[in-house]
Amino acid sequence: MRTPATADFMLEPVLDAGSSREAIGLGQAAGPGLNTRHGTILTLEGISVSFDGFKALNNLNLYIAVGELRCIIGPNGAGKTTMMDVITGKTRPSEGQAWFGETLDLRQMSEVQIAQAGIGRKFQKPTVFEALSVFENLELAQKTDKSVWASLRAKLTGEQTDRIGEVLDTIRLTHSAHRPAGLLSHGQKQFLEIGMLLVQDPQLLLLDEPVAGMTDAETEFTAELFKSLAGKHSLMVVEHDMGFVGSIADHVTVLHQGSVLAEGSLEQVQADERVIEVYLGR
Ligand SMILES: Nc1ncnc2c1ncn2[C@@H]1O[C@H](COP(=O)(O)OP(=O)(O)OP(=O)(O)O)[C@@H](O)[C@H]1O
Ligand SMILES: [Mg+2]
Repeated sequence: MRTPATADFMLEPVLDAGSSREAIGLGQAAGPGLNTRHGTILTLEGISVSFDGFKALNNLNLYIAVGELRCIIGPNGAGKTTMMDVITGKTRPSEGQAWFGETLDLRQMSEVQIAQAGIGRKFQKPTVFEALSVFENLELAQKTDKSVWASLRAKLTGEQTDRIGEVLDTIRLTHSAHRPAGLLSHGQKQFLEIGMLLVQDPQLLLLDEPVAGMTDAETEFTAELFKSLAGKHSLMVVEHDMGFVGSIADHVTVLHQGSVLAEGSLEQVQADERVIEVYLGR
């Protein structure tokens, strides 16, 4: 589906992150409603999740700082996706604490409430509306509380239109704004879905295997994009692509059998004997 023009487009120089970040006014790492007094946006303490007696998460402790870009790695079945399910309220832990900021108890909130509080999640498979244009997809995502047709009929405010324009720039789809989303490449659909999160100004973004199936150029752009979003947002990125992890991470957590096995810089965890044993291989 990808045309040469699209491929060229993917290779355009990245927006100047310094000026664009300010210009696009991307959310805030911690909004006015969220108490992050101690600089921690997410706290998971002693979290356990059991499926028919099998512990997918086992006394998991994890803390994400405001504005941090954290990578989560670990073997298949380690519990990475389950952890995201707990954070977003899809799966309820049998034990443990889960806090968003200082005061929001994620265990007591519905999935919708958690999303509205500022936690955005991107699943691996893009879920864009293929028949609608790129712009319309962003428009719908921005107005999450209305039906599709009511949303599209309601007039956008100048501010909303500006925000969509900024996000289109950020995800490099400005020139495709009026194309049906179904005509985008796989990678561009992924970027559109990230844009659909960004128009909602989430404070914490959860991204599960974001570069799976992307071309090298798309993967590189994703790395630039995530680095430019960090600081303004907090990001938790699960990824098996170690080249990608190396290009974005300053802090890595290794999960294994539902618990944290190691944490530190990528160099530190790569040198850890236990990590080599269970994940990286000898
Ligand atoms: N709904 C469920 N019912 C039963 N078992 C489940 C369920 N969801 C996950 N599991 C099991 O829990 C474990 C953790 O799964 P999870 O999907 O969180 O791993 P992961 O780290 O995301 O792995 P991958 O790298 O393959 O995506 C696995 O053994 C999985 O089979
Ligand atoms: Mg997974």
